[in-house]
Amino acid sequence: MYQENDLDKIDIHAEPPIEEPARQYYFMAKCRKWVKGFEQRNGRLPKSCVLNFGCQMNARDSEKLRGILREMGYAEASEEQADFIIFNTCTVRENANTRVYGRLGQLKPQKKKNPHMMIGLCGCMMQEPEVVEKLKKSYRFVDIIFGTHNIFKFAELVATRLESDRTVIDIWKDTDQIVEDLPNERKYTFKSGINIMFGCNNFCSYCIVPYVRGRERSRDPKAIVREIEKLVADGVSEVMLLGQNVNSYGKTLDTPMTFAQLLREIEKIEGLHRIRFMTSHPKDLSDELIEVMADSKKICKHLHLPVQSGSTNILTKMNRRYTKEQYLNLVEKIRRAVPDISLTTDIIVGFPGETEEDFEETLDVVRKVRYDSAFTFIYSKRTGTPAAVMEDQIPEDVIKNRFDRLLKEVQAIAAETCAVHEGTVKEALVENICDHDPEMVTGRLSNNLLVHFRGGKELIGKYVDVELSECRGFYYIGAMR
Ligand code: 5AD
Ligand code: SF4
Repeated sequence: MYQENDLDKIDIHAEPPIEEPARQYYFMAKCRKWVKGFEQRNGRLPKSCVLNFGCQMNARDSEKLRGILREMGYAEASEEQADFIIFNTCTVRENANTRVYGRLGQLKPQKKKNPHMMIGLCGCMMQEPEVVEKLKKSYRFVDIIFGTHNIFKFAELVATRLESDRTVIDIWKDTDQIVEDLPNERKYTFKSGINIMFGCNNFCSYCIVPYVRGRERSRDPKAIVREIEKLVADGVSEVMLLGQNVNSYGKTLDTPMTFAQLLREIEKIEGLHRIRFMTSHPKDLSDELIEVMADSKKICKHLHLPVQSGSTNILTKMNRRYTKEQYLNLVEKIRRAVPDISLTTDIIVGFPGETEEDFEETLDVVRKVRYDSAFTFIYSKRTGTPAAVMEDQIPEDVIKNRFDRLLKEVQAIAAETCAVHEGTVKEALVENICDHDPEMVTGRLSNNLLVHFRGGKELIGKYVDVELSECRGFYYIGAMR
């Protein structure tokens, strides 16, 4: 595990070590010296701001970047006040890219006024060669550009930039390297995401992730357990195990193990109270996993099981490798083993070739499964994916109409499934003061729904029993018991 304060002992005048993570500690120490110089010159610490645009994996990567910046000595600040701004980008849909270019455009005048300001770009979008070309041509004021595979090298890239005054660009096509023991700055003291695997081998035909996150590789189970034990000792009681397809965890390890076996190991960790995981691919969800979920005292009663479409025809074109019936059977099997489980999903509307009948099949699945909530997406064409060149792309107005109908259905059902728990008492982990009322706190239930109830900040991080007095569509107003 990473030990704080090691850095001052490093001789930064010696050659940098070859081995990781020692090499990165060396560069963190170098940057720390630069930060001290900045402080002497300016009478204050330099300030940094890491913004993430994407999924939970992306958020987790941002925590690592913040941890490295903290070790260098940077203070945290808002985007407006930062001397160093890092955008951790997403590219799963085109609008994620558009947002980044928009934000970059806004930063240009800020950087003109403040020439020593630095801008870093990283994450999935940087793994697309045409993005990097565009940045080199039209956004020359960006200082550091790196991708998803070498995020561990952040300190080295910053040190290089500080010494060279030129844009530092370092993108790797893929990697089988997993660097452990880097610093980390958690957003919450009581819960944390844990990467258990990286990359994806599924190649769903619409999805850019396998191209930008590379091939699937699993972390050593011992390193995962060690990390969680350390977190628990540090006050964490809820973990979210993260991977693009957690159900295929362990297949590429030297000594293969299943995700269910990993969960059994994690369950044994004393002091750990809740285990969550995402994302599950239906085709890889095993009977063994269902059994572990049914037996477990710690695994939360929530499963995110992306269906993407309800039409077998579209599922085939999407390369999802299950049929509508197989998906529905799986849901039934899970519900039989874990009756009070909450199910959520992802759905794409307007995949090439989607007919009105195909869309009706999606609505049918939504009505049959009765999801607790669903993320609905308009299909976005991603260059380089097989779906981008498929015939019969769907017109915008048709997609919009289907999207609205789907959303209405999803929301109506979610409100009904949420109402089922009204009046019951459930355990909530208090996460923060309620955004809308400072007299109230917000807690998360095992089934992932939120409840707002009267309470103060001393409750944050604690488990309390809450009566769910009133369902408000997709959250509750409650009272502590
Ligand atoms: N267009 C729309 N939605 C997409 N997703 C992935 N790729 C695309 C795309 N090209 C959605 C899927 C996935 C979620 C993370 O994002 O539903 O489960
Ligand atoms: Fe994309 Fe499919 Fe992999 Fe999920 S499982 S990241 S949708 S390719």
